[in-house]
Amino acid sequence: MPTPSALRGHFLTFEGMDGCGKTTQLRLLAQYLREHGRNVVETVEPGGTEIGRQIRRILLDPANTAIQPRTELLLYFASRAQNVDEVIRPALEAGSVVLCDRFTDSTLVYQGCGRGLEAGIVLDLDRIACRGLRPATTVLIDMDLETSLGRAKRRNERYGQSESRIDDESAAFHDSVRKGYLALAATEPERFVVIDGRAPLGDVARQIREALRNRV
Ligand code: TYD
Repeated sequence: MPTPSALRGHFLTFEGMDGCGKTTQLRLLAQYLREHGRNVVETVEPGGTEIGRQIRRILLDPANTAIQPRTELLLYFASRAQNVDEVIRPALEAGSVVLCDRFTDSTLVYQGCGRGLEAGIVLDLDRIACRGLRPATTVLIDMDLETSLGRAKRRNERYGQSESRIDDESAAFHDSVRKGYLALAATEPERFVVIDGRAPLGDVARQIREALRNRV
C-alpha cells in the first residue's frame, strides 16, 4: 500500500454545516479544475460507492430514531472505509484531484462535538478505516446558524424530508457543530481554508479558487 506521500494526486475535502452551500461549491470547483486540465474525481461521505449509498440510506432515514450513537459512528466509518479503498486511493494514485463532500472532520464535529463521543475514539476508527489517508486541504464553508439552518430547511421543503435526520437536531447541536469546525480549523491552519459562506454563490466560488491557487 503506498504511503500517503507516495500518492500523486491531491485530496481535498469540503466541510461545513448543513445548508452552507458546500455541495454546490464542490461542483463549481470540479468544473473549474477540469476546464484547466486536471483530472477530477468527485465523491461524497456518507455514500460515494454502491455499498456507501446503502449505508447512507440507513444513516439518514428519519425513521431510524433507535440508532445508537456508536452504531451511527461505525456506519459513517464503514462507508468511508469502502470509499477510501474503492474510489479515493486509486484516484490519488492515478494523480487525480479528489474532491470529497465531507470526511472525518464531519465525524469529529457531528458525532464528537454534537453527540458527545470522544474524539480519541473517532480518531482510532479513522486509523482503521482510512489507513493514514488524510486530506491535504480542507475547505470549511463557515456560516452563522440562522442562515445555514434556514437554507437547509428550505431545501428539505423543496426535496422532501427523506434526508433530514440530522437536520432535525436542535439549534444547540448545530451550534456545537459550528464551534467544533472552527476549533479544528484553528488547530490545523495549514490544512484548513475557511471561507465565509454568506456571500453570493459566485463570490464564494471565487474566494475558494483564490485560496487554492497555490495548493492544487
Ligand atoms: P450531507 O448529505 O452531506 O448533508 P448536507 O448536504 O447538508 O451537507 O450529509 C448528511 C448528514 O450527515 C449531515 O447532516 C452531516 C451528517 N454526517 C455526520 O453526522 N457524520 C459524518 O461523519 C458525516 C460524513 C456526515
